[in-house]
Amino acid sequence: MLFGMELSQDTKNILGLQLPTDPRWVNLAEKSLEDILTDHAYCEQKAATTCITLIQRYSEMEKLVTELSPIVTEEWGHFRLVLAELHKRNLKLGKQRKDEYVNKLIDFQQKGGHWEDRFLDNLLTMALIEARSCERFKRLSEGLDEEYLRNFYRRFMESEAGHYTLFIELAETYMDKEKVRKRWKEWLEYEAGIMQALEVRGDRIH
Ligand SMILES: [Fe+2]
Ligand SMILES: [Fe+2]
Repeated sequence: MLFGMELSQDTKNILGLQLPTDPRWVNLAEKSLEDILTDHAYCEQKAATTCITLIQRYSEMEKLVTELSPIVTEEWGHFRLVLAELHKRNLKLGKQRKDEYVNKLIDFQQKGGHWEDRFLDNLLTMALIEARSCERFKRLSEGLDEEYLRNFYRRFMESEAGHYTLFIELAETYMDKEKVRKRWKEWLEYEAGIMQALEVRGDRIH
């Protein structure tokens, strides 16, 4: 168990996120499938590259390296699935866009101070992106008209839920659980603020 009872409760409320996605978002996303698949494809790509960066930066941490190595493969597999879906539908992988959501999360990361605090923020940023992606994929898996796409997104939802858990677990492996829990709460609050401020648009996963 990660946070004991509290985590299982959090998981029920979609991973502790403080603000559910605006219900209008799924309908907007459905109308701009090429854009949403393109944005999704780059999200998967960034997840893979960030895991590689973490492995490079924290190479002395055996558990982290061991656990994140297969995630790189998995995220790259996700990228390929989304790419195949685009091609199957005669849609094109467009250009990568500025990721406002992720940029705002990076703003909240500690820049100086102790390396451990920066390490913790790196892991929690990833946990949060996984949690929010999981929530968005859940919305798509429930709200899209096309059954095939609903199932398509259900698979991503399940996978990202596992990743969310892994990043929290890694944080707890290397740092005090109480410290992790406290900082995670701060991140959840901050993220809710971002979600509130961001424009609801159908061409972005976040
Ligand atoms: Fe993924
Ligand atoms: Fe993931």
